[in-house]
Amino acid sequence: MADLRRFVIWGSAGHAKVLADLLSLKGGEVIALFDSKRVEPAIAKVPLFVGEAGFLEWLRGVRDVGSIGGLVAIGGHHGRDRIGIQGLMQRNGLALPNIVHPQASVAATASLGAGTQVLAQAVVAADAQVGNACILNHKASVDHECTVGHGVHIAPGATLCGCVTVGDYVLVGAGAVVLPRLTIGADALIGAGAVVTRDVPAGARVMGNPARPSSRS
Ligand SMILES: CC(C)(COP(=O)(O)OP(=O)(O)OC[C@H]1O[C@@H](n2cnc3c(N)ncnc32)[C@H](O)[C@@H]1OP(=O)(O)O)[C@@H](O)C(=O)NCCC(=O)NCCS
Repeated sequence: MADLRRFVIWGSAGHAKVLADLLSLKGGEVIALFDSKRVEPAIAKVPLFVGEAGFLEWLRGVRDVGSIGGLVAIGGHHGRDRIGIQGLMQRNGLALPNIVHPQASVAATASLGAGTQVLAQAVVAADAQVGNACILNHKASVDHECTVGHGVHIAPGATLCGCVTVGDYVLVGAGAVVLPRLTIGADALIGAGAVVTRDVPAGARVMGNPARPSSRS
């Protein structure tokens, strides 16, 4: 985000506040918020526009759209929504920076996709590859040589040990641990605090220590 100073955020709830704080630390400012519903603006004095129609209305009044960064503040197990909204922003010319908190650590040999957010005290270790529109939340740890797909959320304090592979749209819940070299299939949900000791199939929901399928899997 080196050259970007102005940002818009889609999603007007708590995560938008976290991103606004991060942006302010880097000299950036939020100039507009979007949400699918009419809600309170999460950031004081920032105008809120509702839905795609609201986004397009805002866009009509903007010059030099390529100098504005777009970020998506939708957490939880909603990686598909993040990817979809990033697509809308990209088609309309916004920049899609990744954003790294000054107190996060990203190895020089790691890679981050477009729109990926690395929050305070998160770690991305050597040779890790992280896709687009991911959230590596506070204190999340993605260890060496992990491969993380698109639209993945590694929740606060969760740990991927080395060489873990995570498919698209997965949520690894807060404080969960995934042991080395395992594979988590696309769309899976790892419950908060789980210790994952075996591969998790696509779409599965697991929880507990050791992690086992939950009844809704
Ligand atoms: C696993 C999870 C998806 C289950 O959600 P749910 O289906 O709505 O579950 P419920 O809250 O109805 O609980 C069902 C049962 O599972 C238990 N349970 C819920 N989450 C659990 C977890 N993470 N680990 C162990 N047990 C859990 C509940 O205590 C309850 O047990 P009971 O039937 O004996 O009372 C959810 O609790 C979770 O961990 N989500 C991840 C949240 C997260 O980290 N988000 C990121 C925020 S930034």
